[in-house]
Amino acid sequence: MIIAIPKERRAGETRVAASAETVKKLKGLGLDVVVETGAGASAFFSDADYSAAGATIAPDAASALKNADIVLKVRGPTAEEIGAMKRGAILAALLSPATEKENAAKLAEAGVDAFAMEFLPRISRAQAMDVLSSQANLAGYKAVIDAAAQFGRAMPMMMTAAGTIAPARVLIMGVGVAGLQAIATAKRLGAIVSATDVRPATKEQVESLGGTFIAVMDDEFKNAQTAAGYAKEMSKEYQAKQAALIAETIKKQDIVITTALIPGRKAPVLVSEEMVKTMKPGSIIVDLAAEQGGNCPLTEPNKVCVKHGVTLMGHTNLPGHLAVDASSLYARNLFNFVSLFVDKKTGAIALNWDDEIIKGAGLTRGGAVVHPALKG
Ligand code: NAI
Repeated sequence: MIIAIPKERRAGETRVAASAETVKKLKGLGLDVVVETGAGASAFFSDADYSAAGATIAPDAASALKNADIVLKVRGPTAEEIGAMKRGAILAALLSPATEKENAAKLAEAGVDAFAMEFLPRISRAQAMDVLSSQANLAGYKAVIDAAAQFGRAMPMMMTAAGTIAPARVLIMGVGVAGLQAIATAKRLGAIVSATDVRPATKEQVESLGGTFIAVMDDEFKNAQTAAGYAKEMSKEYQAKQAALIAETIKKQDIVITTALIPGRKAPVLVSEEMVKTMKPGSIIVDLAAEQGGNCPLTEPNKVCVKHGVTLMGHTNLPGHLAVDASSLYARNLFNFVSLFVDKKTGAIALNWDDEIIKGAGLTRGGAVVHPALKG
């Protein structure tokens, strides 16, 4: 069986879906690995590294894909790539199923069995395959580093002969995987950190990292977590109470990192233009929800801009700014996913559609879109 890793073609995408380490492991599963030339260049993985690990290097996407039984990618394939894949091939990638529904239909039409890694169930057996976590953790770290680099002041308190510098105040909004890493990183840099979320479970997590938890803790808050562990969309009343509390808090902050998301929906607006106006000049907002519409309406995706004296950073692919680590972790996540359906002795493929991981991530099967979230 052949597994292919084409080069990523979307603008700004620096990551790659396999590393030399995972090529070796995929070979260990009995698979023949084909890597498109230059696929790892932006992550500093060379063709020579892949070859040394046992891969064959293909000169272009079409030749990498034409005989592949399994295709691994970071982002969804282009129309040309879909056209080059054979019927019955398996694809695993970040397919943005909530926003790129038409691609699912194209993949079904092409007879590709596609798996959207975003839909992987958050169960303990799937943790080693959880690409959202591996990438969000890096995004949370990089958001703080980027903010610190942009900030015209130091992060920690410093007592010097020339006087004392006050520590920076950092507010993290949304305490999922990215938010937790952002809290830990800001603490390590010496900032005074506070954080907010609508899920009650996050209070203890924030406090255990040395942060102060800020939220409207009413009855709605106590029930704001779904069985899958995600946030629910909050009522208008709750959002108004939350906004009033944040408005008071935000005035005192130097750096605000927003990470709040609700799967499949536009990101909630947490920082209004009015709030931005109350922030100190030179303050920073890093909006990790920029791709889903932003937690601040002033954020411009993939831009750094200054509005009302506040710098708004709206990079949509922060993991891609740490291409080496992001690719290495993503590649391991995908290797673990592939190990689920490849027989370790023979290299034969057997998809068990009764397995909740396969079923949960499966977008298309046998020419049809099968995921309940896309069937409409
Ligand atoms: P996410 O990326 O979907 O959202 C980020 C954060 O924003 C979440 O904590 C969410 O509660 C928060 N949020 C949403 N609306 C908000 C609002 N109006 N105000 C403030 N905050 C708001 O979250 P992520 O990082 O994907 O984590 C989701 C859950 O999955 C968490 O409970 C996490 O601990 C859990 N998880 C479980 C894993 C497992 O294997 N069991 C692995 C990874 C995550």
